Amino acid sequence: MKIAIDGPAAAGKSTVAKIIAKKLGYVYIDTGAMYRALTLKALQTSTDLEDENSLANLADQIKISFKNVGEIQKVFIDKQNVTDEIRNHDVTNHVSYVAKHKRVREKLVEMQQSLAEEGNVVMDGRDIGTFVLPGAELKIFLIASVEERAERRHKENIEKGFESDLENLKDEIRRRDQIDSEREVAPLIKAEDAVEIDTTSKSIDEVAEQILTLIHSKR
Ligand code: C5P
Repeated sequence: MKIAIDGPAAAGKSTVAKIIAKKLGYVYIDTGAMYRALTLKALQTSTDLEDENSLANLADQIKISFKNVGEIQKVFIDKQNVTDEIRNHDVTNHVSYVAKHKRVREKLVEMQQSLAEEGNVVMDGRDIGTFVLPGAELKIFLIASVEERAERRHKENIEKGFESDLENLKDEIRRRDQIDSEREVAPLIKAEDAVEIDTTSKSIDEVAEQILTLIHSKR
């Protein structure tokens, strides 16, 4: 079974996807981490983020991979562990510019589809239900207010000991959602057959339970 979880930035997609994957013994695939890894490499190599061909070539040159270590999914570019680095502000503020290019998306979508061929997967992103796995048996579109999403991210940052500014987070989330929703190729949009869940006043466990119930009804 393939499960697609899409939605705007910081809506809790990855947290929920990980819980579901763990409960069902499915493979979790974080597609945002792949766009982030390519963005990190582009920034490190001073690649022009408007240069579609150079970015696509860069995607060809690097190998992005995942490795599960206990509860943590580590992300690698070739043999370099970039798990923490791909979450930094610089990457977060530039990733949507990299992700809007058609050729970049073609390369990463191909990788995502081949990862999904391996069997039962929960995949999260922006275009999973619409483009990457259009035949997914269950499609979820998670939403929450900007305020709630920023608050959650702010709390998370503080718990991890990272610097965090709530107003900056709100701006960052709004800007990223706008670029992701307005791009020409595979924009952030709810698939027609996706189930929309507003997580604004729900706990992560409640949302995960709701999705698990939907999964059981499909089996
Ligand atoms: O999910 P996450 O917030 O880590 O994604 C980072 C960025 O990667 C998104 O803001 C978006 O620009 C891009 N992305 C995308 N398509 C996906 C997953 C992520 O365009 N399937």
